[in-house]
Amino acid sequence: MHAYDTVELIRLKRDGGRFTADQARWLIAAYTTGEIADEQMSALAMAVFFTGMADEELAAWTQAIIDSGERLDFSRLGRPTADKHSTGGVGDKITLPLAPLVAACGVAVPQLSGRGLGHTGGTLDKLESIPGWRASLTNAEMYAQLESVGAVICAAGSGLAPADKKLYALRDVTGTVESIPLIASSIMGKKIAEGTGALVLDVKTGSGAFMKEEESARRLAETMVRLGTAAGVTTVALLTDMDTPLGRTAGNALEVGEAVEVLAGGGPADVVELTLALAREMVQAAGVDADPADVLASGRAMDAWRRMIAAQGGDPAAPLPVARHQQVLTATSKGTITRIDAWEVGLAAWRLGAGRARKEDPVQAAAGVELHVSVGDTVRAGQPLLTLHTDTPDRMARGEEAARRAITIGGTGTRRPLILDRIS
Ligand code: URA
Repeated sequence: MHAYDTVELIRLKRDGGRFTADQARWLIAAYTTGEIADEQMSALAMAVFFTGMADEELAAWTQAIIDSGERLDFSRLGRPTADKHSTGGVGDKITLPLAPLVAACGVAVPQLSGRGLGHTGGTLDKLESIPGWRASLTNAEMYAQLESVGAVICAAGSGLAPADKKLYALRDVTGTVESIPLIASSIMGKKIAEGTGALVLDVKTGSGAFMKEEESARRLAETMVRLGTAAGVTTVALLTDMDTPLGRTAGNALEVGEAVEVLAGGGPADVVELTLALAREMVQAAGVDADPADVLASGRAMDAWRRMIAAQGGDPAAPLPVARHQQVLTATSKGTITRIDAWEVGLAAWRLGAGRARKEDPVQAAAGVELHVSVGDTVRAGQPLLTLHTDTPDRMARGEEAARRAITIGGTGTRRPLILDRIS
């Protein structure tokens, strides 16, 4: 590969120029090997933050992220594959019922997930609240589980998109995460390397999402759909509301409990609606003719869940951990619930111990927030609004402070539609 002068390329991007495909490839390859220093890549990421990237350079940049590591291949599985990625939200436990549901529809789901950082929980943290369950699988174990169960949710191995691991860690400490081209290439680089045939994106917008504005979320969704499609992966995005938390729980074991309710045919209406909408998209993108609502009602998704958990050492029948301390918050006045703010609920759950401040911090399996009301409900003074759960009582006051701010009782309240748009 041709070598370039890094400072020249930083200046080019700073001044609003475009990298050639070769320059974009070189930058990622040279940063991965350490030839480009962190301080240079920091400046470059900030320049991209301010001046953006055109489609062609972004496609080359993303391809270079994919090429920095291994690419999984499920083409010999004998079944089509589909995966889902959510940009993250409060109470977003959808992956848990979705993966076994889609597997029960006849589509294999290789779901590589992460741990939570900040106010949104990670899927692996949630599943680790199930006694015995383990997140790390070898590629051979993952492949075998896809053949036997049809669904696997596990940690991404270190061989997948190493350029992104390095770049994401750098962006995290240099204020350069919130850039549409950098987010899109980071997510799509990993998802394409994972080898899925179809990909459905759940791009969230609202107070509890990291794209607060609908317009930016839409641009992110469109950019990711273009990148996936150009790489030969059937890609569809749903733009969904994250002003209000999903479902009635935020916190690891609490969310697993809610996911199991959905698999058993119950659960909150919004969680069921989004699970079915994403399942329909995945099944359709994979070219399989099945109705996820029928499959859910038949109990086959629950069977797939039990097998998926057991295959990774978990006991699906074991009781989930319960927090040692619980506190109920009640309404101070009567009225209608006009708002349940996702950001504040996420913050409360995080302060109670459900999330981590640094990558290496442990999380409490049982900590979190359980909501007893929905937007639009009328309440009387003294009625329970939510329960706070934690193992460490000194966390309770700070959790309560955020939880109190989360709920607004006023005149009239309605929630905007959960699914705002579909982008393909
Ligand atoms: N998630 C990712 O994987 N990458 C980003 O850049 C942002 C969110």
